[in-house]
Amino acid sequence: MQKNKSSVLGKLVLGITGGIAAYKAAELVRLLVKSNIDVQVVMTEAACQFITPVTMQALSGKPVYTGLWDASIPNGMPHIELSRAADAIIIAPASADFMAKLAHGRADDLLSTLCLARDCPLLVAPAMNKQMWDNPATQRNINQLQADGVQILGPDSGEQACGEVGLGRMLEAEDLLYLIEAHLQPKLLKGKKILITAGATLEMIDPVRAITNLSSGKMGYAIAQAAFEMGAEVTLVSGAAALKPPFGVNTISVTSAESMYQAVMQHVAKQDIFIGVAAVADYSPVNASAQKIKKSESSLTIELKPNKDILAQVASLPNAPFCVGFAAETENILEHAEQKRLRKILPLIVANDANDALGSDQNSVTLLDKNGAHPLARAPKIEVARLLLQHIANML
Ligand SMILES: Cc1cc2nc3c(=O)[nH]c(=O)nc-3n(C[C@H](O)[C@H](O)[C@H](O)COP(=O)(O)O)c2cc1C
Repeated sequence: MQKNKSSVLGKLVLGITGGIAAYKAAELVRLLVKSNIDVQVVMTEAACQFITPVTMQALSGKPVYTGLWDASIPNGMPHIELSRAADAIIIAPASADFMAKLAHGRADDLLSTLCLARDCPLLVAPAMNKQMWDNPATQRNINQLQADGVQILGPDSGEQACGEVGLGRMLEAEDLLYLIEAHLQPKLLKGKKILITAGATLEMIDPVRAITNLSSGKMGYAIAQAAFEMGAEVTLVSGAAALKPPFGVNTISVTSAESMYQAVMQHVAKQDIFIGVAAVADYSPVNASAQKIKKSESSLTIELKPNKDILAQVASLPNAPFCVGFAAETENILEHAEQKRLRKILPLIVANDANDALGSDQNSVTLLDKNGAHPLARAPKIEVARLLLQHIANML
């Protein structure tokens, strides 16, 4: 969105290459246009064997470019002009052949030359037979593209046009739309460093038993992902969470509240923002048993000691970052959250209902700051994360 001068959400060049999944590109264009994203379609010669430029022109509302020598562009250089107004180029579907070209910097047709001459990010959605995908040559090319900063979207696994089943299907148009919208988020946090904690901590009682809680880590991971999309340099200190580390985020895995504290303190210097989303255990066993505790008839007492308050300690550092807390409460949610905000001297706290938020894919939160309460509508956690980060960016 940085270069976007109109009211549209963003401007894309959609490159279509020669694969059966080209038919899905028609649906993708329809969804992009509906989402107020301006699309300029460019097709390879092979792509035109699978779907016609006429279809793509009708759906995008613009002429489709296919040739390097197209004279209709005033300066005769479509390979330069077409990407200059774009926020990103997405290749969907990306054939094995086209990715090989990209990996080697080839430029023998309009689309490959456009990609080589681009000054914007490149996203690639591979689509091919599973043997083509698994081929070491393709995997080498994918690794090279990732190393070159190209974002690979998918592929998906499932039944293929050739009848085989496996990895190589292009992501569905709706999934691609979601990823593109994420990519087009305004870069409100560009240049900012953010440290986030997420997930549950694990306080060992003996080698096989622990005190933990129901936090899934989904909210913290969503914030980390959204912060990355908004241009921040993100470090995520994650307790127990069965989630894939967010793309582009430096994720550090910890277990106990003490190890989370150590990791946070190690990384907190020079951070602009700290968001404590993790459900950190308030207490841990005084003496964890080195051996598995044996069952007996008598009752068992485990003595607990209070853990360090990570958020309060970060907030009280001499050069403390902008600190944001999360309050998961089960009653008097806003009152308890505001008390926590004032007690820990935080500029902002996010109040949510523990019974509703823990483990769920959606969340309904209220942001509390010195100006009062700002309720956000119930939404998927990634959308809540984006709104929270927009609020933080406005406060900074
Ligand atoms: C019927 C048919 C289907 C094809 N499907 C795919 C495909 O899904 N993925 C792929 O990578 N190549 C596929 N190919 C091969 C490409 O079309 C071929 O490599 C072509 O040179 C790609 O050109 P391009 O990368 O310039 O678009 C297919 C070929 C045919 C004849």
